[in-house]
Amino acid sequence: MTESMTVIATTECTDALLPVVGAGLPVPLVTGASVPYANLDYAASAPALRAVAEHLATALPYYASVHRGAGYASQVSTALLENSRSCIGRFLGAREDDLVVFTRNTTDALNLLAHCVPQGGSVLYLDIEHHANLLPWQRRGDVVLEAAPTLRETLADLEAALAATPTALLAVTGASNVTGQLLPVKELAAIAHRHGARIAVDAAQLAPHRRISLTESGVDYLVLSGHKLYAPYGAGVLVGRRDWLDAAPAYLAGGGAVREVGTAATDWATGPARHEGGTPNVLGAAALARACEELATVGGAALAAHEDALRRRLLAGLADLPEISVLRIWADDEVASGEVDANTTDESIGVVSFTVAGQHAGWVAAYLSAEHGIGVRDGRFCAHPLVSKLGLAADGAIRASFGVGSTSADVDRLLAALRTLLAKGASWKYELVDGRYAPVDDPRAIPDFAGPRSSVSSPCQAD
Ligand SMILES: Cc1ncc(COP(=O)(O)O)c(C=O)c1O
Repeated sequence: MTESMTVIATTECTDALLPVVGAGLPVPLVTGASVPYANLDYAASAPALRAVAEHLATALPYYASVHRGAGYASQVSTALLENSRSCIGRFLGAREDDLVVFTRNTTDALNLLAHCVPQGGSVLYLDIEHHANLLPWQRRGDVVLEAAPTLRETLADLEAALAATPTALLAVTGASNVTGQLLPVKELAAIAHRHGARIAVDAAQLAPHRRISLTESGVDYLVLSGHKLYAPYGAGVLVGRRDWLDAAPAYLAGGGAVREVGTAATDWATGPARHEGGTPNVLGAAALARACEELATVGGAALAAHEDALRRRLLAGLADLPEISVLRIWADDEVASGEVDANTTDESIGVVSFTVAGQHAGWVAAYLSAEHGIGVRDGRFCAHPLVSKLGLAADGAIRASFGVGSTSADVDRLLAALRTLLAKGASWKYELVDGRYAPVDDPRAIPDFAGPRSSVSSPCQAD
């Protein structure tokens, strides 16, 4: 399912849309030189917005226990947590009685939702999902549907599956973390509701890149991670309908999740508190809320236009390199355009994955980092079924991803580095170390504050 791209080259420069912490960070090359870091790995973890870092610097002196403290700093921290909750709900167009539950990240939020699906209720999901929106359902024995060769056929297959079998929940991604392709969430919500099912959208990739409103789209549940939304301080959310969440047993049994505890029985809290046992991550919540506010000032159309310009520039450059194949799940995804936001100018977010013929993806990623100071992701992107479906080898692909801090200079550097690789090869030698490619005798020191270099790699990478 790879295809050669026909794209129009653009020479206009694109600047960053918002300032991020770490822009222009000097990083060492194996040659001994130093260059500004080209961060093209936003889809894994995006840099913090400067406004987020400043907000946290303001909040940190007041950091104290929340909900149960009588002290002034506790009152400030409690207000900060609860106002952050409301702010995130507003940003996501939550309905009046929707809950905003703080979690650690999207994975945690989806596991919480899986825990709250009413007993006996079945969940339908696609095989193109990130593992976070696949494993909680697979573990429950839910129903997986293979995505068809086109989006239209996939939507028809989903409708047929929902019509054939009573289903409690359809769980889908809003945008693919492998290809960046958007799914038509409003249309999917209508399909689910026609057959009495609810819909949950994994917005880990969607929300940082496009505006999404629960109210306008009809989506019942939405999950996301702060660290992908320019707020890397360890908070995520599950937002959505109250009834399932209030009826389910507490997700984390412990302090804060209760009204009254006896040695024999407990009166559990309802609302977000029921599933937020233990001390909440107030700074993570505040960071996420501040990032939402900042993105809201930019607006959905500007976000989409900025990424679209960068994506087109990258695709135009890659189209000139016949050794490179860009990954797509569906070729007909233009029908998704405009579903999420009427002002959306393209059908994909700023995520482009590709392979280089004859080159191991991890080797290319190591080369880009060591010789050009460019950060990309390689491997199978925690989407093993999709990567197999795309017919890729076990090393997977290379993924370039960008967002509000990215510029056309970042994209041009990636293209120049790939051209050099294909014309002249690498100038350093690389070897496999614990399953990951690394420069032989890597001379780049890790700064002291981080401690010694770690070779531990995620099993999701190129395994
Ligand atoms: C589409 C999608 N869903 C879920 C996740 C999981 O996010 P987290 O690791 O923050 O839980 C990711 C992370 O890459 C993702 O891209």
